[in-house]
Amino acid sequence: TGAVTYDPGFMNTANTESAITYIDGAEGILRYRGYPIEQLAENSSFQEVTYLLIYGELPTAQQLDDFDSLTRRHTLLNEELKNFFGGFPRDAHPMPVLSSAVSALSTYYPDSLDPFDPDQVERSTYRLLAKLPTIAAYAYKKSVGQPMLYPDNSLDLVGNFLRGCFGVPAEPYEVDPDIVKALDTLLILHADHEQNCSTSTVRMVGSSQANLFASVSAGVNALYGPAHGGANEAVLNMLKEIQAEGTSPEDFMEKVKNKESGVRLMGFGHRVYKNYDPRARIVKGLADDLLHKFGGDDELFDIAQRLEQKALEDDYFVERKLYPNVDFYTGLLYKAMGFPEKMFTVLFALGRLPGWIAQWREMNAQGPTKIGRPRQLYIGESKRDYPGA
Ligand code: CMC
Repeated sequence: TGAVTYDPGFMNTANTESAITYIDGAEGILRYRGYPIEQLAENSSFQEVTYLLIYGELPTAQQLDDFDSLTRRHTLLNEELKNFFGGFPRDAHPMPVLSSAVSALSTYYPDSLDPFDPDQVERSTYRLLAKLPTIAAYAYKKSVGQPMLYPDNSLDLVGNFLRGCFGVPAEPYEVDPDIVKALDTLLILHADHEQNCSTSTVRMVGSSQANLFASVSAGVNALYGPAHGGANEAVLNMLKEIQAEGTSPEDFMEKVKNKESGVRLMGFGHRVYKNYDPRARIVKGLADDLLHKFGGDDELFDIAQRLEQKALEDDYFVERKLYPNVDFYTGLLYKAMGFPEKMFTVLFALGRLPGWIAQWREMNAQGPTKIGRPRQLYIGESKRDYPGA
């Protein structure tokens, strides 16, 4: 099989060709299907971006309308799946609940499991797009001990999700259009990021010809880790700790720079961006405009900005080219919208779903791909005999 290349963490190994997302990490550029993220965040909608990522082109008004109706019609979960939520402890973190429920979807839809049958792929696509927000809202309701609300398909995806989380049966729920707009933009910013850890996981699992639900469930688990999507929750915990302990940003930075402390500045650094993450720039702008309006915590925003300021002028961060990433400011906005910390990574998953689906479909579009199977450098014992053998 020839020489093996040793590349832990796939620092320099491309595992696939892809026509979906372009990143220039040195320049801080991100484009979906060629369209700059700044233009999409300003002018598009999450539903339109979902279509763009999966099908490769912006939809016509008619195509978008059809796509929207199709996904709206599939938001309900099977009643039996509802019982499944009863099996978790009351304070369950919603991420494992989410991944378990996504995995369970494959038990309900045996007609959507063949990765190489275009009709089945289409069915699993719109089912997953429609049902993930319902599952996410159920996971949230479970954690606060409130009744789960059936979706209201007169609302769009984001409005329906917000109602599913914050509505109660006893009272009408008024969707706040400003919050819908802001959340829609945040979902656009998370929608794809080429071969990140969770997407590579989705591809890896899919390379064994596993169905879409199984592959995406694995992606949700990969996203849960604090070095990946879990960072948005970790950032807020970090800011709150700094606030509670009255630590100055300067002192906190000293702790971060001392490697022995094991403390990282969460929401900073990126494998690919060696410049300001273009998504973080947009999120910071949104936080500037909206935090006040949504009743956000100005003191935490202030701590975050002071940490950023300190980091950008500190040699440790400058030499290592560490800049704020997408997770640095998102949590402040989510919190101001009313979400508790443990829902933050779920919101990332809702955003990343179209990317996972688009990448999985791209991989399978030409039929079975090569199975993902890295090599290793063996460093264990050489042959030795079992006692008495
Ligand atoms: N705080 C302090 N030092 C850092 C940080 C940080 N946040 N990130 C990287 N470094 C240092 C690291 O110690 C290393 O220093 P040295 O060369 O002296 O050993 C150098 O910078 C390179 O770091 P690395 O860990 O080798 O880089 P990586 O590309 O393997 O890791 C990362 C990328 C995102 C996992 C890492 O920067 C990190 O742990 N950041 C904090 C967690 C975070 O915000 N994750 C979100 C990533 S972006 C979106 C997402 O996926 O959710």
